Amino acid sequence: MNIYKYILSFYYGINMIDIKKQQGGWAALAFEVSDGTKKYFLKVYEKSRASTRKWTSLIEQYAPILVWLNENSRLSGKIPIPYITKNGNFKCEDEENIYLLYDYINGETIGDQDLTKEQIQQLTQMIVELHHYGEEVVLDKPLLKEDFSVPFLEQLRYVLNEGRSHLSHDVKKLIDNYNEQLKEAIFKVEQLSKLLKASDLKMALCHTDLHYWNLIQSEQLMLIDWEGLKLAPVEADLMFLVEKPYFEEFMEIYQKAHKNYAINDDALSFYQERRRLEDIWEFIEQLLYDKQEGQERVKTINYLKNELKCLGEHLK
Ligand SMILES: Nc1ncnc2c1ncn2[C@@H]1O[C@H](COP(=O)(O)OP(=O)(O)O)[C@@H](O)[C@H]1O
Ligand SMILES: [Mg+2]
Repeated sequence: MNIYKYILSFYYGINMIDIKKQQGGWAALAFEVSDGTKKYFLKVYEKSRASTRKWTSLIEQYAPILVWLNENSRLSGKIPIPYITKNGNFKCEDEENIYLLYDYINGETIGDQDLTKEQIQQLTQMIVELHHYGEEVVLDKPLLKEDFSVPFLEQLRYVLNEGRSHLSHDVKKLIDNYNEQLKEAIFKVEQLSKLLKASDLKMALCHTDLHYWNLIQSEQLMLIDWEGLKLAPVEADLMFLVEKPYFEEFMEIYQKAHKNYAINDDALSFYQERRRLEDIWEFIEQLLYDKQEGQERVKTINYLKNELKCLGEHLK
């Protein structure tokens, strides 16, 4: 029996009669499935992928917060909630994969498009609302609180030094070209990490991955992909907006709701630099540990090349 059919039946009591592969996201495979009357969105994290642990280990911690937000905040109806399995969990798994099941959202992913005025307003309202909630919601879930650690730095540094020999020739050459910039960026992130650990910044619930591939225009604008939900300084979200042409408008509205808020430049730099390094690390990790071949590998190398170039330009 098809493994997905089995999973849907066993864990969710759904009789799957149709499945279509969707253009996937970054971290997981994606499928539109149907039982003949209703469509669902099945997200499949392959355990063989190096990034899967990072993206799935906190599901049982963050999903109850989504449920809470959906029931108690103005985000109600604008965020997708994973279905609960027969065992009472928000995810299920077999040897190969970890699965999450959602309602299918009929609509268009914003992706590379610009937001309309109406969409900018809706996104602004969602962020303003999300940032009203904090410690009181995550009290018993300490793992969801930002601690400014940068766990991948150790591995990245290893790959730049003793671990170089594990890299293939082309990747080694590429990374060698940016060795100085990488080391400089690592140093900067570590300094900021220390500084922020010692500071006592106000924190709020943050989505932490606010790009437009995580926005779907349905009857209303939906914000999806909440795997990064965390209690963090709000710069963890604002970093995605500071360079948008509508940022000033955004801030005007934001500051009316969050009186006395001013951007913390250290927190903003920390998130920007960490994100850049994390993306670079994830591409290297894929090239090292995920068995990529052919076109897929070429694509990853090109992404890595682009990120390294951006890093170089940014540090100039
Ligand atoms: N519930 C849903 N219904 C329909 N399409 C969805 C749904 N959730 C996500 N998608 C589509 O799948 C893509 C990847 O989903 P996402 O949750 O962002 O995965 P990833 O963590 O891999 O980025 C999104 O960009 C969107 O186009
Ligand atoms: Mg996504």
